[in-house]
Amino acid sequence: MTIRANNLIIAGNVIDIPLLLAPMAGVTHSAFRRLVADFGGYGALFTEMLSAPAVLRENLAVSPFTRRRTAEGAVFYQLALVDSENIGPVMDKLATLNPYGIDINLGCAAPEIRKRGGGTELFEDRDRLQAVLAAARSRWEGLLTVKCRLGRRVPDWQERFDDRLRIIREAGVDAVTVHPRFAEDKLTRKAQWSLFPGIVAEAGLPVIANGDIVSAHEAKALTGESRCSGCMIGRMAAVKPWIFREISRGPEAVDYREIWNRFYGYVAEDFPPEKRIGRLKQFTAYFACNFFFGHELYRQVQGSKDCATLRDRADRFLAGSPALVKEPSVTGI
Ligand SMILES: Cc1cc2nc3c(=O)[nH]c(=O)nc-3n(C[C@H](O)[C@H](O)[C@H](O)COP(=O)(O)O)c2cc1C
Repeated sequence: MTIRANNLIIAGNVIDIPLLLAPMAGVTHSAFRRLVADFGGYGALFTEMLSAPAVLRENLAVSPFTRRRTAEGAVFYQLALVDSENIGPVMDKLATLNPYGIDINLGCAAPEIRKRGGGTELFEDRDRLQAVLAAARSRWEGLLTVKCRLGRRVPDWQERFDDRLRIIREAGVDAVTVHPRFAEDKLTRKAQWSLFPGIVAEAGLPVIANGDIVSAHEAKALTGESRCSGCMIGRMAAVKPWIFREISRGPEAVDYREIWNRFYGYVAEDFPPEKRIGRLKQFTAYFACNFFFGHELYRQVQGSKDCATLRDRADRFLAGSPALVKEPSVTGI
């Protein structure tokens, strides 16, 4: 069985390749999605999480959070909501972009999002969750998905998780991405893939697996024996923006220097000057994992005060054909 043998079907919509790019704040902006699209091999991409005020404030056609190029294909826009206020206008404005789908973030464990009641906190709060999903469903007829973790690490977590799956299904959500870590878990703790067969059996919806997926072997096992409908990859796509092509079609040689410089150009095209350096540093922190002395690239880039210095340092490192690690790892990053 190849990963291409399984389509991902969500509410009758066929996504040819069951591989998705995970939403990542600061990473899956328009310049990065453009780079991933150059390599192809995926079924759909997710934007980073968008707050309701940001959607209402931004010019969505030009904002690098929401801008989309035709080559990207299917793009899901992810919302980080805290309540049902303003959901109507937010959905209506997003609909003008003709999204492939809209996703609601129920899994972000970042303290600033949790403090506001979003992400994993929204997942915990049954009533608020029901209200948000009902409001979203009533205003948006297209594909509606959610992304969640396992909830809090408490003795009756399984019961609570199954209850949330029921709420999600009964609200008319079309698919659920599960990142099987508890709300409190850091990314250093392994995602619990062994839970997927049970989650799939319980969900009654297509389940997309997420967390620590880095190769074709894992993607095949999760969509095969574990019966997940698709796989979502986050950090390893920032390390290897060609990961989807590699999983779909097998390994091919890549030119690291050219890819980094291309990304630099894409960031320069989409971001205003003052916003570029942060995005370049964040991407390069992941990209550096490809190299044996990647910590040197990381150190030089993080210490750069302006984009010209950063580019010069990165290019000099990459021009030296730096030794590659055999298998890059995303553990703990
Ligand atoms: C830098 C960073 C930003 C993230 N931002 C989001 C986000 O905006 N929305 C979301 O649902 N998850 C977010 N996540 C979680 C990822 O989507 C994903 O669940 C997690 O990284 C595990 O998948 P991976 O092992 O393939 O990276 C983020 C993760 C990272 C590392």
